[in-house]
Amino acid sequence: MQQADFHALQAAADKRRSLYDLSDILPISMDELRGLLSEILRTTPSGFNSQTARLVLLLGDEHLRAWDIIQSCVQPLTEPTAFEKTVDKMNGFRRAAGTILFFEDGAILRDLEQRFPKFANNVPLFSAHTNAMHQYAVWMQLASLNIGANLQHYNPIADDALKAAFNLPPAWELHAQMVFGGILSPASKPREQKRPVDERLVVIG
Ligand SMILES: Cc1cc2nc3c(=O)[nH]c(=O)nc-3n(C[C@H](O)[C@H](O)[C@H](O)COP(=O)(O)O)c2cc1C
Repeated sequence: MQQADFHALQAAADKRRSLYDLSDILPISMDELRGLLSEILRTTPSGFNSQTARLVLLLGDEHLRAWDIIQSCVQPLTEPTAFEKTVDKMNGFRRAAGTILFFEDGAILRDLEQRFPKFANNVPLFSAHTNAMHQYAVWMQLASLNIGANLQHYNPIADDALKAAFNLPPAWELHAQMVFGGILSPASKPREQKRPVDERLVVIG
């Protein structure tokens, strides 16, 4: 890798934080955003090159509708006092520009399990890894464009309601929801090293 490539990539990795104070104003157009997600789908690896990741970009009223749906799925499972805080948090998500739903196509995964019985137990693990790689690629690219994002996990409780609302295939499996928007405030804390990097890196030889 050229040094310049390394620095550009690492600068984007360094910019990527969990940001929650987001606006609905983006520094890029919706077409550019769509292009960015297409490029990530084209270039991100997947187990067996199965290309199981599915991204759903929700904008405008559809982004708001997603959070109404998720909120109504969470409400019956949450104590009323805790639910107030949940609504506050979700109102923050609503103020952002959009949400990307990250799915895996379960129909392809079940087919892989049948065709490769020796690897069948690992298919869900590969699927989760594949999806996480897409999540990170999107998060880092958004950061490189000064777009803030945070990652949410209201799956599996909201899977069925979201798939029904947006006419998505029942076999798709929801892995994460990424809320994104213009950056109104930086991360609340500096990047934290709970475990020193030196303890987490082993170099042998
Ligand atoms: C697998 C995974 C799951 C996460 N789930 C959530 C989540 O459900 N809600 C949330 O607000 N942040 C979530 N995060 C964000 C982490 O809390 C965050 O990345 C971590 O604290 C480091 O902070 P940073 O993103 O600002 O570097 C998740 C991150 C990862 C990698």
